[in-house]
Amino acid sequence: MLVLCIESSCDETAAAVVRDGRQILSNVVASQVDVHARYGGVVPELASRKHVEALPVVVDQALAQAGVAMGDIEGFGVTRGPGLLGALLTGLSTAKAMAWALGKPLAAVHHMEGHILAPLLEGELDFPFLALAVSGGHTHLYRVDGIGRYRVLGQTLDDAAGEAFDKVAKLLGLGYPGGAVIDRLAGEGNPRAIAFPRPMLHKGGFDFSFSGIKTAVLQEVGPHPGPLSPERLRDLAASFQAAMIEVLTIKTVRAAESEGLPRIVVAGGVACNRGLRQRFAALAAERKLEVRFPSPALCGDNAAMLGVPADHYLRMGRTAGLDAEPLASWALDKC
Ligand code: KG4
Ligand code: ZN
Repeated sequence: MLVLCIESSCDETAAAVVRDGRQILSNVVASQVDVHARYGGVVPELASRKHVEALPVVVDQALAQAGVAMGDIEGFGVTRGPGLLGALLTGLSTAKAMAWALGKPLAAVHHMEGHILAPLLEGELDFPFLALAVSGGHTHLYRVDGIGRYRVLGQTLDDAAGEAFDKVAKLLGLGYPGGAVIDRLAGEGNPRAIAFPRPMLHKGGFDFSFSGIKTAVLQEVGPHPGPLSPERLRDLAASFQAAMIEVLTIKTVRAAESEGLPRIVVAGGVACNRGLRQRFAALAAERKLEVRFPSPALCGDNAAMLGVPADHYLRMGRTAGLDAEPLASWALDKC
């Protein structure tokens, strides 16, 4: 089955053609980063407008790159939520219109479901597994027993991990979005230079809290840090990142072991982080666990990842009607 998928939950406009929920024929992403960078974060209204402009373009590109015509598409997949309401609405309306015009079914899926199932686009993956979903809006630990079978084991009580990276980057004058910049600087700094806290490492079960680390960075540099030396920036980035990585990896491994799960999937934009990938790989070897990361292009927001759940739900007949509305907040285990 050939499925055309659309993603527009935040600041990436994306379209992809996926065959049988496993094979990527095209995966086009139009980033709005430059539009929002000057405001230091995503401006929802601007995001919606840019999606409206970019959607027809990315859809055409996705079809052309896949070498298929619109008439070959057998079903549609789209992110229904969670995300920015206006942004979601643009993609959902586009997908509904195409499905209606072609008389083909539409699956409206959860954004994080796409993220955590992305490894299935790159090879076999056995269920059950533990998923750590880390992005700009989420930090969740899920037990995944199959497609559509998710249980939340833990989640952040305040900031998402990506949000913490972005806020700290802003604080240090590194621009937006900051995760990748911190990652790069951290690779050259001393992770033990500053002892930032590891919030909730030994309490709160599998829940997380990241706002304290951000506050600790603020206390370290002061409210108006001014220009920081390159060496100080590198050490701040490395020490902050080390604290994030320690909490994320230790809680995740603990959750996997307590659930008796032999494999872990780390997904979402923060899963691009090189330090996180290295630490997880080392822990996996030590603890005899399998840890899987989607390749970086499938960690950030994209539409191909939606192809896995969309194909599954289309085959089941779990389709969305033209009255389906976007959901700004939506719990994955309540889908
Ligand atoms: O999944 P994603 O592309 O969008 C959301 O669904 O939120 O994740 C974006 C987040 C941003 O907060 C960004 O700073 C973070 O992922 N990110 C990273 C890295 N690359 C992107 N965080 C840490 N290290 C990275 N290399
Ligand atoms: Zn995402």
